[in-house]
Amino acid sequence: MTADAAWWEPEVYSMLDPRFVEHRWSDVEALLAIREAVLDEAPVAIEIGSHRAAFVEGMACTHAPAHVLGIEWRRKYHRLGLERVDKRAVKNARLVCANARLAIPILIPPASLDAVYVTFPDPWWKKRHADRRVLDPLFMRVIARRLKPKGRLYVKSDVFDYLYRLRDFAAASEAFRPLPAEHWPDETTWTLTTRERKCMRGAIPFGRGYYQRLDGFPTDLPSEVEENIWDVETDAEMSGESIIKGPPPVDVEHRALQAKLRAEMGAGSDE
Ligand SMILES: C[S@@+](CC[C@H](N)C(=O)[O-])C[C@H]1O[C@@H](n2cnc3c(N)ncnc32)[C@H](O)[C@@H]1O
Repeated sequence: MTADAAWWEPEVYSMLDPRFVEHRWSDVEALLAIREAVLDEAPVAIEIGSHRAAFVEGMACTHAPAHVLGIEWRRKYHRLGLERVDKRAVKNARLVCANARLAIPILIPPASLDAVYVTFPDPWWKKRHADRRVLDPLFMRVIARRLKPKGRLYVKSDVFDYLYRLRDFAAASEAFRPLPAEHWPDETTWTLTTRERKCMRGAIPFGRGYYQRLDGFPTDLPSEVEENIWDVETDAEMSGESIIKGPPPVDVEHRALQAKLRAEMGAGSDE
């Protein structure tokens, strides 16, 4: 990789995001050092929130010999991820311990990625915490600029509200189009993520938001709509909130039938 710092300069605006106020110049310098020391080759795919790198390990096989990158901000998981890829000698996987929102503008050259995976991002359930979610329209544009034209953003989540929001964000960002299900990839070669495995074991439903980067989307600063997206009221029906926040769905007819049978059996045993 070249030492050309200009990659991230156009994206300095993203540090004006209130969430970057906590970052110091030392964080930026640390990432620049990582860029030189860790990323000997530009990755073609990244996972944001790579946890213990289970998915990154599989992704490395899928994309080999090209390099892939996992970004995880919790040190403990980053360390466990490093142990995993070292132990299994996964040569083309790189792991970075950083906030992906700061790391991506600094580490990833524009139009270089085939794919970005965000698997089961932290949901931040409470409405007042929703702006802590890693994906928002601003960051989606940052991601879009790092994807090659027709590159893909793959998101999986068991929080359907998040997935519905993303669909709105994608529309607002003008950078993505949702991929119709018939164009979704064959996932049989993908490794399950830790959360995905848990969902499958616990029969917890989860969904997908798969997007393709549009050619020639406007790359100027985010629009007002994008900036204020969290203020937009969504239709609870549309966003599935009533399902997510309500009790688990019940089969009303089945319950009525069971109640009837129980009543009949009860009536029968009285006789
Ligand atoms: C719910 S876990 C999912 C982990 C894994 N992707 C999976 O599917 O099992 C979300 C992960 O994202 C990480 N994370 C959240 N926000 C992040 C950020 N801004 N930058 C890097 N990692 C982040 C968390 O530390 C956590 O490991």
